[in-house]
Order: sequence, then C-alpha cells, then structure tokens
Amino acid sequence: MSHAPLARFTAAAPLRAELAGWRRSGARVVLVPTMGALHAGHLALMERAKALGDRVVASIFVNPTQFGPNEDFSRYPRDTEADLALLAGAGVDAAYLPEVAGMYPEHFSTRIEVEGLTEGLCGAYRPGHFSGVATVVTKLLNQVQPDLALFGEKDFQQLLVIRRAVRDLDLPVEIQGVPTLREADGLALSSRNRYLDADARARAPRLHAVLARIAEGLSAGGDAARLLEEGRATLAAAGFDPVQYLDVRDAETLAPVERVARPARVLAAAYLGRTRLIDNVAVG
Ligand code: PAF
Repeated sequence: MSHAPLARFTAAAPLRAELAGWRRSGARVVLVPTMGALHAGHLALMERAKALGDRVVASIFVNPTQFGPNEDFSRYPRDTEADLALLAGAGVDAAYLPEVAGMYPEHFSTRIEVEGLTEGLCGAYRPGHFSGVATVVTKLLNQVQPDLALFGEKDFQQLLVIRRAVRDLDLPVEIQGVPTLREADGLALSSRNRYLDADARARAPRLHAVLARIAEGLSAGGDAARLLEEGRATLAAAGFDPVQYLDVRDAETLAPVERVARPARVLAAAYLGRTRLIDNVAVG
C-alpha cells in the first residue's frame, strides 16, 4: 500500500494545523513520544500505534528537564536522520521534533508534580526526573491532542506516573503501555545499551535473569525478602555496582509488597560501569 511521506514539524502550530485536517476526516490519532535514538522497541510502539489508530505522530525530543545535573543529557545518543528514516519505514505519518526554546520559552515556570508514586524507586535516585517527564508529556499531549498515547513498559514507573497525571488533570487521552522488547538473551532494548562495551554487554542480561527468577519464585510462593537478597547477591557477583534498587511493588500503586495477592512487579535499577540499566517484569 502506498503511503504519504513522513511529514516533519519543529513547532506545535503547523503540526496542529495538519492534525486539524486529519481530525475533520474522523481520523483516530495516536502519539508515540520518544527521545530518539530509536531501536526495535520503539518500532514495536509505532507498529502498535498503527494498528490502534488511523494516523500516527512520533515525537523526538531529548527533554533537558528530566535529566539531573550529573546525568547523560549531553551525551545522550542523537541521530535524527537515522531516526527519521526508521519512522518513515515504519509508516509513521508525522514526526514532531520540537526545539528546546519552543518547548521551554523564556520565563517558563510551570511544572507538574505527581506525588507519592514518584517518591521511591527511580524517583529516589533521580530527583526532579519524573516532574520533568510529567511536564513534558503533558505539554506534548496538549500540543498534539491525540486520542491515544503509547509508552513502553520498560519505564514502568514512568508509565504509572503519566497515567496518574493524565487522570488527575482530566486530560482527554487514553494511555496504553506496550510490553518491553528484549534481545534474544533477555536484555531489555534501550537507547542506553549503546553505551555498553563488550564486557558489560555480556553481563547485562543477568539483570533480566534475576528479575525473572524472583518473579517465578514469588509465583511459586517463595519468600520475597530471601528472593530479593539472592537477587542482589547475583547482581553484585555479575559486576552490577551499585544496585540502586531491586524490589517487588504493587503494579498499580508501587507500594511495597510482602505477600503477592494483587498484580505485582519486580523492578530494578543498577549500574554496569557508567551505564545505568533499568528493567522490570510482571509477577505471575
Ligand atoms: O521514555 C522516554 O523516552 C521519555 O521519558 C519521554 C516519555 C519521551 C518523555 O521525555
């Protein structure tokens, strides 16, 4: 089937003009927000978006406000031309590439804070991160006004934070999570995997192996504290240092879980060398 070429927008006004035309023809619009450095995991999001909607917009914006002062904002991988080629190949209708000055004009002074959900796990180690994410995602949702927006489950806490902000602020959009895509050895696809050297890449799949082992152990009625302790020891032996967190949480509220009665999630963040990896799996 022939397809119109990928349209590119760097500002919200012309994008909205294009979107208005789509909407008049009754199209269901899906937004997939990204920070670029696209990989097969992102392409799975695009594919899902195409299956669920009539028009797909992908945004690429390395959002400065979600990076801490000692994080990898300046070295975050950027390859816009390669990203645009992938989006065109995936049949995406429009790429939205806002500029930092357009997103955050002079005297920008509003931020979205989602309390509670953002306090533990990544939130404890990345102060301000989820406020930056919630703010930029709210802006993207307001700019594009999609019917549906898709986010990867790899950033599980992020997904819950976005769902909560959308619900609390009555944003008229449906949010859906998409399961994590993995390499054959279990490593979750991530733009940051590019940072791993050969040795770290060989060790990295232990993270998923440990999470999967804990999830299986919990499903079989195992003791959470013991399983987590074994998991931490396995990660340390594989060279993960530090292991920032390895925990079992309620899959909706992220409250700590001792006995698994409701849907739960095992989540971890750990460093291999300078690279911070995160991952999570469902229990059961
Ligand atoms: O997951 C990401 O790539 C980013 O956090 C997001 C949702 C695009 C916001 O900048």
